[in-house]
Amino acid sequence: MPAWLKDAVFYEIYPQSFQDTNGDGIGDFAGIIRRLPYIRDLGCNALWINPCFDSPFKDAGYDVRDYQRAAPRYGTNEDLFRLFDEAHRLGIRVLLDLVPGHTSEEHPWFLESSKAEPNALSDRYIWTDDWITGVPGYPYIGGEAPRNGTYMLNFFKCQPALNYGWGTVTRSWQTPCDAPEAIRTREAMKDVMRFWLDHGCDGFRVDMASSLVKADDAKKSATCRIWQDVRRMLDAEYPEAAMVAEWSDPDQALTGARFDMDFCLDHPGNAYHMLCRVKNDRGANCSFIKAGSGADAQAFLAEYLPRYERTRADGYISFITCNHDTPRLSPELTERERKLLFAMLFTLPGVPFLYYGDEIGMRYQPQLPSKEGGYTRTGTRTPMQWDGSRNLGFSEAGAEQLYLPVDGAPDAPTVQSESARADSLFHLVQEVLALRHAEPDLQADALFRPVYAPAGRQLLVYARGTRLVAVNPSCAAVRLTAAELGGELSGRRLLLTVGEAGCSDVLTLGAQSLAIL
Ligand code: NOJ
Repeated sequence: MPAWLKDAVFYEIYPQSFQDTNGDGIGDFAGIIRRLPYIRDLGCNALWINPCFDSPFKDAGYDVRDYQRAAPRYGTNEDLFRLFDEAHRLGIRVLLDLVPGHTSEEHPWFLESSKAEPNALSDRYIWTDDWITGVPGYPYIGGEAPRNGTYMLNFFKCQPALNYGWGTVTRSWQTPCDAPEAIRTREAMKDVMRFWLDHGCDGFRVDMASSLVKADDAKKSATCRIWQDVRRMLDAEYPEAAMVAEWSDPDQALTGARFDMDFCLDHPGNAYHMLCRVKNDRGANCSFIKAGSGADAQAFLAEYLPRYERTRADGYISFITCNHDTPRLSPELTERERKLLFAMLFTLPGVPFLYYGDEIGMRYQPQLPSKEGGYTRTGTRTPMQWDGSRNLGFSEAGAEQLYLPVDGAPDAPTVQSESARADSLFHLVQEVLALRHAEPDLQADALFRPVYAPAGRQLLVYARGTRLVAVNPSCAAVRLTAAELGGELSGRRLLLTVGEAGCSDVLTLGAQSLAIL
């Protein structure tokens, strides 16, 4: 595992919406470069940029047409190389988004693979051997290609599945995963990785990392073997490169596939969901962090602790504030609730990811029509809100030219407004991240141990190495004796607080408060 991950905090950038510098209404590489000092001053020292490669953008760039060419709307390859250099100068690493499971239907590999005449790329994708035969149990398309067969999809209609082989082969047209054709797909993807790593990129966020081998076993053993092979290549050629999986199963992604990090995404029932996303029958948030929900930390711990303990020697679980696929938590959670949540997410073990704009409380925009295959995700992808100038500082273009409209609310938060407000979430994020960088026990590795998590009470105290984090999301103040905390209070002092907190021979936590000791 690259050592730099121990103190890494990532900032996710949806490039369409971050900063436009050429007035065409869409973000660009030069805009990201311009804002690097902002990201550093916030306390983030690494970036994940959503796919920024040539694409028809039917799924916001997750439909790649050329893996080795930057999308012209963001700039040139040289501009992206310059972004790597400028980021490194400021101590910021950059991960690109690798989409290994599928390409765009316009990728030259697919066009070649679709031809009636057999050729070197005929088996680069998953095809059946007859125009009327589908792919049982998987989505597929027929009637579109000259070739006598149907092809399998990995996600949308525009995203044909690349062929890494089948875990269990039951049809003559299926390729075993150790067949030369399947291995050639993997080698081609390694070459894509080498291309960007050679030009200064620091690693990859891997899209649908578990999706490679079809009809794989329950443990995804064959897919894991592919990633182990990729890891061996990286260890030998790029030992500093970092890989984070979109998998959300740390046993498979970290222990099995040897990823450095695995996202804990918003999947019903998982640890992240228990902390901040659970809804009741009426659609209201009733998770641990929601004031007055009465939810205790048991469900979170039951999900998190065993997975953490099993996998912590192998890699990091990555908590997210949100991402480009998930509704933003504002306004569903209040600013105070998000303060408690983010302070927790940034002090749990592993490597956290902050989604652009969450630090200023950008709001989910549910009313927006779908853009580039976004559907309900579109409302999470609106332009970054910098200041009170035209288009909130995102772009000089006319409003009708913007990629997506900026938040039109008169009180839309901006970096300018939130940095001017002394008790904003923005300042809390800065403060927690500064403390994390100063305290090795709050970084990725230090041991996590629940200290006090009474059943039926909305309260959690956990240790990270020698530090303690106490969270009281409830509406009532609490008083904890040293005995209740296992004698942990002697000689401690408050390093950071949200809301009211005091520490002497007892720890007092006001309603909706958090203390780091
Ligand atoms: C997951 C990505 O996060 C999402 O945005 C995309 O639509 C799918 N994978 C397909 O690539």
